[in-house]
Amino acid sequence: MTIRHFTAENFRCLQHVELEADPRYNFIFGSNASGKTSILEAMAYLGRGKSFRGATTTDLIRHGEREFVLFGEVSAGERSGRVGVRNSHEGLEIRVDGSKEGGAAALAMALPLQIIDPDIHELVAGAPDQRRRYLDWIAFHVEPEYGDLWRRFRRALKQRNAALRAGITGPALAGWNTEFAELAARIDDGRRRALAAAMGPLQAAGLDLLGSEAGFEYRPGWNEDRGLLLALEEGVDRDLAYGSTQSGPHHADLKLSYDSRRARKLVSRGQQKLLACAMVLAAAETAQVALGQPLLLLLDDPGAELDREALSRLMARVTGLGSQVVATSLEADAPLFPTAARVFHVEHGELMPAS
Ligand SMILES: Nc1ncnc2c1ncn2[C@@H]1O[C@H](COP(=O)(O)OP(=O)(O)OP(=O)(O)O)[C@@H](O)[C@H]1O
Ligand SMILES: [Mg+2]
Repeated sequence: MTIRHFTAENFRCLQHVELEADPRYNFIFGSNASGKTSILEAMAYLGRGKSFRGATTTDLIRHGEREFVLFGEVSAGERSGRVGVRNSHEGLEIRVDGSKEGGAAALAMALPLQIIDPDIHELVAGAPDQRRRYLDWIAFHVEPEYGDLWRRFRRALKQRNAALRAGITGPALAGWNTEFAELAARIDDGRRRALAAAMGPLQAAGLDLLGSEAGFEYRPGWNEDRGLLLALEEGVDRDLAYGSTQSGPHHADLKLSYDSRRARKLVSRGQQKLLACAMVLAAAETAQVALGQPLLLLLDDPGAELDREALSRLMARVTGLGSQVVATSLEADAPLFPTAARVFHVEHGELMPAS
């Protein structure tokens, strides 16, 4: 799925932006605070129904305005579709082909995308929840029922946590354990299958970008030898003390290793970025194979933290994927793409074609 036409109104500093996208390479340049990241954030919002910078609705609505509106025409092979988002303090409205039915999951199906921004090293160095979301994104695109399963799991977790906070114990609490453990096992399976599907691309991209082997190992969030049901029974006092469930897929992690040692501690910031980029590109590649379609890749200042040689390896890997790319840079002449890109200049929140 690629984006053909994109508009944003009153999103951050962008009053009105229109972008007629090239199906392959798009390049946006502009000085600091001109609006480059805002444009990518708006595009990502259109595919996810939320900000990749973790911003609130108030942060995102242009100062002095009441709402922002985003719209895109997308292509999936011969088919085309429309995605739209309107957000105000009254709430978020999502439409896919005119229908409000599917919500954010429908957006994610209509415009799947991945982002590499200057904070991407956090995927390697940051908290486990980012790596869980990473695996869940792959599973969502590789396994048609995963999104629904995930929602059911979240509900079961909420219910068990509410029971814990209400001080429920004994057989009444054990009643919640069975459903929770059953859904947890299916989430676990889905993530393991997602990781297995991505493993080839992960290892290839890791080797390509880092120059040595990287390892990726799933940790489920409980002691595997003893099983989750037992962990829930044995951990009940701790769960009651915390008022929340301490074992389960919501405590899982993807352990990364580089040169056989723990990546998180040892790699430099640039290496962390390269490992994170390898992960993002491997996820995109895995989803592209599953969906049989190219995806949208948003690259915000891809050269940040990278030397010239590392950037060129990264861009070679990006262009080899056959995805649609929208990349930003401070420099008008950043050498990112092997062939001519459609070029745009952004200044004070206004976007103009520059080629
Ligand atoms: N809700 C908002 N309303 C109006 N302006 C905003 C809003 N949120 C952010 N801005 C402003 O938008 C401008 C552009 O920010 P953006 O992060 O897109 O710039 P950039 O081109 O990516 O800059 P850099 O090169 O430094 O990364 C900033 O001056 C910021 O203060
Ligand atoms: Mg920026």
